[in-house]
Amino acid sequence: MKAQSISAALLAGVATCAAESFRAIPTLSPSVDNGENILPTIMNSSAIDPQTVCPGYKLMHMRQTKSGVDARLYLAGKACNIYGSDIDQLQLRVQYQTRDRLSVQIYPANIPDGQESWYKVDDDQIARPLDRMPVGPTGSDWEFSYVENPFSFTIKRKSTGDIVFSTKDTKLVFENQFVEWKTSLPSNSNIYGLGDIISANFELKNTNRTIYAADIGDAPEANLYGAHPFYLDHRYVKVNGATKGYAHGVYSRNFHGQDILVREGGITWRTIGGSIDLFFFSGPTPAKVTQSYVSEIGKPAMQQYWTFGFHQCRWGYANISELDNVVKSYQRFEIPMETIWSDIDYMDQYRDFTVDENTYPQVEFKAWLDDLHKEHLHYIPIVDAAIYITNPSNSSESYPTYDRGHELDVFMKNPDGSEYIGAVWPGYTVFPDWSAPNVQKWWDEEYISWHKEVPFDGIWLDMNEVSSFCVGSCGSGKINMNPVHPPFKLPGEKGSVIYSYPEGFNLTNSTEAAAAAAASKAQDDANNAQNPPSTVTTPYYQIPAVTPNVRNINHPPYAINHAQGNHDLAVHAVSPNATHHDGTSDYDVHSLWGALEIRASFETLLKVFPGKRPFLLARSTGPGSGKYAAHWGGDNGSTFYYMRKSIQQALNFGLFGIPFFGVDTCGFGGNSDLELCSRWMQLSAFFTFYRNHNILSANSQEAYVWADVATAAKTAMSIRYSLLPYFYTLMYHAHKTGSTVLRALSWEFPDDENLINTDSQFMVGPGLMVVPALDQGVTNVTGYFPTDGNTVWYDWYTGAATFSDGKNHTVDAPLGHIPVFIRGGYVLPLQKPALTTYQARKNPFEVIVALDKSGKATGNVYIDDGESHNVKDALFVAFRATKNSVWFNGVSIGNLDKLKSYLTNVASVYVLGVETKPSAVKLSGSQNCDFEYDTQHKKLTIKLPSSFVYSKGQKEITW
Ligand SMILES: *[C@@H]1O[C@H](CO)[C@@H](O)[C@H](O)[C@H]1NC(C)=O
Ligand SMILES: *[C@@H]1O[C@H](CO)[C@@H](O)[C@H](O)[C@H]1NC(C)=O
Ligand SMILES: *[C@@H]1O[C@H](CO)[C@@H](O)[C@H](O)[C@H]1NC(C)=O
Ligand SMILES: *[C@@H]1O[C@H](CO)[C@@H](O)[C@H](O)[C@H]1NC(C)=O
Repeated sequence: MKAQSISAALLAGVATCAAESFRAIPTLSPSVDNGENILPTIMNSSAIDPQTVCPGYKLMHMRQTKSGVDARLYLAGKACNIYGSDIDQLQLRVQYQTRDRLSVQIYPANIPDGQESWYKVDDDQIARPLDRMPVGPTGSDWEFSYVENPFSFTIKRKSTGDIVFSTKDTKLVFENQFVEWKTSLPSNSNIYGLGDIISANFELKNTNRTIYAADIGDAPEANLYGAHPFYLDHRYVKVNGATKGYAHGVYSRNFHGQDILVREGGITWRTIGGSIDLFFFSGPTPAKVTQSYVSEIGKPAMQQYWTFGFHQCRWGYANISELDNVVKSYQRFEIPMETIWSDIDYMDQYRDFTVDENTYPQVEFKAWLDDLHKEHLHYIPIVDAAIYITNPSNSSESYPTYDRGHELDVFMKNPDGSEYIGAVWPGYTVFPDWSAPNVQKWWDEEYISWHKEVPFDGIWLDMNEVSSFCVGSCGSGKINMNPVHPPFKLPGEKGSVIYSYPEGFNLTNSTEAAAAAAASKAQDDANNAQNPPSTVTTPYYQIPAVTPNVRNINHPPYAINHAQGNHDLAVHAVSPNATHHDGTSDYDVHSLWGALEIRASFETLLKVFPGKRPFLLARSTGPGSGKYAAHWGGDNGSTFYYMRKSIQQALNFGLFGIPFFGVDTCGFGGNSDLELCSRWMQLSAFFTFYRNHNILSANSQEAYVWADVATAAKTAMSIRYSLLPYFYTLMYHAHKTGSTVLRALSWEFPDDENLINTDSQFMVGPGLMVVPALDQGVTNVTGYFPTDGNTVWYDWYTGAATFSDGKNHTVDAPLGHIPVFIRGGYVLPLQKPALTTYQARKNPFEVIVALDKSGKATGNVYIDDGESHNVKDALFVAFRATKNSVWFNGVSIGNLDKLKSYLTNVASVYVLGVETKPSAVKLSGSQNCDFEYDTQHKKLTIKLPSSFVYSKGQKEITW
């Protein structure tokens, strides 16, 4: 959950007790989170363009290596020292790593040990694609060429003759705090990715992409929580009169604060440190690009089966009986709910690894969780990144988690070696340092012992950008005041009451909307009257003063377009000068804190749950985080805007290798309403991760709060729970091959140029398309129905063939109905739904065979115990259908008897697109099966004998 920054300053330092606060403790002044008011360099029209003054480099001493070429680059003239000190000698290394992957690396050369003023990403922390079996230039689809002076390079894909990347006619600028390279793009290039950012369009044209992990809510166009410097470029060309789409991917393995300026005609890359470490993935299909990229950074974690069930969360479940009431209400209304979550409410004064004895007494809580588990339900609590620091002058206070961490020396430091002390929910806090030698041991032990008291089933990692509500080590010398209240009002506290509603609420509920608008205005007026205008310093552009070979990490000469607060890197986050045990400054590794916490936490959960797949949900992520964790879209708002953007977010995180993704359904910030929540509960049912979550003090928004939402949710959930074997199988493929689960239409129909910007509808795997209503007040929706020539789209609800012409069509979407289409050519594995995944797995399977125009379809289903980390027993059944038959072909590993309880019978097969009523349906060529034929919808329903189960070997059904 986010901290809304409040612009008005109260008093300096720690203010008096805030009587209106929920907690009678001193409140920090809002001014503690005001940094310097720096304006980004890109906004400064008088900022010097490095291209006009810097000399570039000259290439020399090129030599062949086993995998490509090495060369030296020498500064080609007088140093420009524009946003840092120019480095005179660089190493160029080109590796043809595989047929489809090329690596181009440029980094400082000849720098004596210990004097490196640059940081190289640790290959152990963030996997670097390696040249394990280099193919060399002849075995590669890539061609690297260069100009010697000034040095530039060009990358061509040989199979398509396409120039995919070229720095020709530009200069390389390589300084200790600033690296710039510029590439040109042809007009048919379409760029996707470069996150974590929510933007106006899915395809990026004329956008500034800043990367620097930030706890900033879901502000549009802003650098959000994670760092994913990867893009997919999808270009359309005419080949013999037909349009063909070719894609490639570019991964820039640099995690410093950076601006990536995407323009018509080219991209300017500007990063405030590190090296150039580029990887090119040749595709040429979008699916192949993602798969190649994700396979290198780390293929997604396989998730436990139960995690596909519905999750309910909110900030503000005040005690055990409120949690219990939510669980019971879902059960009473017979709405599936699998997992109940806790935000920070359960903790003792927001301290990690504690419970509040008044509201969540440990003994009762454990008993309640044990009962929850008996019903095959699950519980996931939040764990925040920051650790409360014990107040040494309060002898009655005890917070052993800090004491043990301090003893083991696991926290980040100030440059002088003292502990870095920021401020987060509990008050003044310290922050784990993932490079400290004892940190894993400490983290493991905290979880292992806490799990004995609070038997959780997974962990939610929040605030890991890493967020801090003040600038610098603001608690140094002040911990005797702990605990302190954050420097802003919590939602619902006086002056911070939530009055906002979704768009159009004034049309559906005008009385309430008018009352809320009036109350909101009164609150604003009172706040403005009470708080003197803020004393934020006048904004200024940095004058880049460079001290030779000395870095200014607090205020780097080049100011990135960081969207937080007033652009100072130290605002609302641990500051760049916080120091890690391995000697690095946070400046160099800031955006990787979350990724490293995720990795450590995965290792921990393997110890808490030996042999089981860890479940982690995390806010700040980096390349490879999908190997360990799921991600949610952060602190969105209860608006139609954010519901629409959730699709773009899901598709981007698919590209980034984190396919287990969802957003706060019905919206986090602000009050939701019936219409939005109804639409959103239906939309999110088709995301991999499906969770409703709400901010403290906003109106309740559980699915049962409105009768119509309950009905809508049940309708969509019955589809989702039917599709669990399909979702699970897609996740299995993602885990094995790096493929995506939610997909852009353009990835599935790569030759159709109409789909360049389509993120208002999406595919689940290759076989299902969702065309949701995303606007307030609508009762129908226009969707595009792509075709590859053989495509038939079947309506999920009737099984009838619909549009298959590659055109837009308007379909009915009254409130409570979400249009879903099955793609001919695919076989979808289903299972009868239930209220929990545990019960659903006891139900019979079903199969939908959706024939394409040529009368064919394929698909598969993967079955295992749903929880083992190292799977020993599993069954994989491939389906292959023709006009009048479907084959099941099962292969297995291990002992299938161990999966017996999951191998329930396959009760029915639905074949869509059967033109005429068959005279008979036979099993294995002989045994007759019952069947029904629906003439109107051309749908054949085959009833299989109860002995029919998925198994090894072949089975055939013919009609
Ligand atoms: C993007 O950067 C350009 C400078 O290159 C600037 O003029 C423009 O205002 C920026 N756009 C946004 C939306 O910040
Ligand atoms: C560290 O950064 C903070 C925030 O910019 C600043 O206030 C502080 O003076 C810095 N400390 C050092 C030693 O540079
Ligand atoms: C309803 O509110 C929207 C803003 O969300 C505003 O544009 C519109 O004019 C309002 N309509 C009415 C009828 O008040
Ligand atoms: C109007 O909004 C209020 C507050 O959200 C809610 O309690 C009430 O049920 C709504 N009325 C209608 C008719 O939707």
